[in-house]
Amino acid sequence: MSESKINISKTESSRLSEIDFDNLPFGKFFSDHMFQADYEDGEWKDFRIAPLENLSIHPGNLAWHYGQSIFEGMKASKSKDGIPMLFRPEEHIYRLNASARRMCMPEFPEEMFIEAVHTLVEMEQGWIPPQEGAALYLRPLMIAMDEALGVRPSAKYKFMIMTLPVGPYYAQPVSLLAEETYIRAAKGGVGEAKTAGNYAGSLYPARLAKEAGYDQIMWLDAKEFKYIQEVGTMNIFFVIGDKIITPETTGTILKGITRNTAIEILNFNGYQVEERPISIDEVVKAHNEGLLKEVFGTGTAAVIAKVSKIAYRGNDMVLSGGSEIGDMIKKTINGLRLGTEIDHWNWTVAAKGSQVIV
Ligand code: COI
Repeated sequence: MSESKINISKTESSRLSEIDFDNLPFGKFFSDHMFQADYEDGEWKDFRIAPLENLSIHPGNLAWHYGQSIFEGMKASKSKDGIPMLFRPEEHIYRLNASARRMCMPEFPEEMFIEAVHTLVEMEQGWIPPQEGAALYLRPLMIAMDEALGVRPSAKYKFMIMTLPVGPYYAQPVSLLAEETYIRAAKGGVGEAKTAGNYAGSLYPARLAKEAGYDQIMWLDAKEFKYIQEVGTMNIFFVIGDKIITPETTGTILKGITRNTAIEILNFNGYQVEERPISIDEVVKAHNEGLLKEVFGTGTAAVIAKVSKIAYRGNDMVLSGGSEIGDMIKKTINGLRLGTEIDHWNWTVAAKGSQVIV
């Protein structure tokens, strides 16, 4: 057993008693502690967990000006026996480091990431909401820390992990507007990276969609506005007849970990999933023929979100059918988190304190 490299200082005044677990809007309440590390002189150092604090940041910070900012979203839950559990934590450090490479940022050490999430979740386990569907959301974030106005990669970075008790991201089925003016990502761009700018770019079209009466944008490809990409807050699946189809990941969409979880669960249950280009025309045709049975989104925050309606060129495709496939995946994921479903994949792992990590 090796000694933890994480320096821990605990709060003397927990805010936990102020939290109403029955009323948890997504992203509003932060737990008591956060993990931090700094990158200087070519290495990550000063690994620490301390009370959540504001940062003092110079106005010339490169992340603010040129967007070197990447993040992850992952969840911890409590098993039916009260054990804090992490879900596929290693997938999140692989993806964070893929985002880091694309954004010319330093990779974060995998082992330290795993130790940090275990230690933090073990410390903050009282913040894990008990209700099915709610969870402790972990937000790892890496930002540039140099203060300079030249367009170049920063030499200094900060890595943090915050945790937040959250309810479902979408409490109701979601209506989508297929977007034909704005784009999320083009081939060769940063669409696959979980970087701040991808979300910033979605805000204005999402506002227009909201004003038109829809919850979110459904992105089409940047070249022809023909092939469906993702929703921006989640990946998307279509059930057409007896086929389950999801856009393939070829660089313009996020490689969703819940997307992959859903595909694995479907395969395990005997369903084939077609990962391929799917055009909006194919969806419209399926709807007109009565074959569009289900549409759902997948994401860490959203888990599985049923789509109620998709608008394209002024026409609403209303999905009044069931959600058999989406519900089965959601039930399996929730059951895995609660420990009531057999974990055939070894995705769930009990959070260990830093002292038991070897
Ligand atoms: C997540 O699903 O964890 C995300 O980062 C998406 C964000 C819209 C909350």
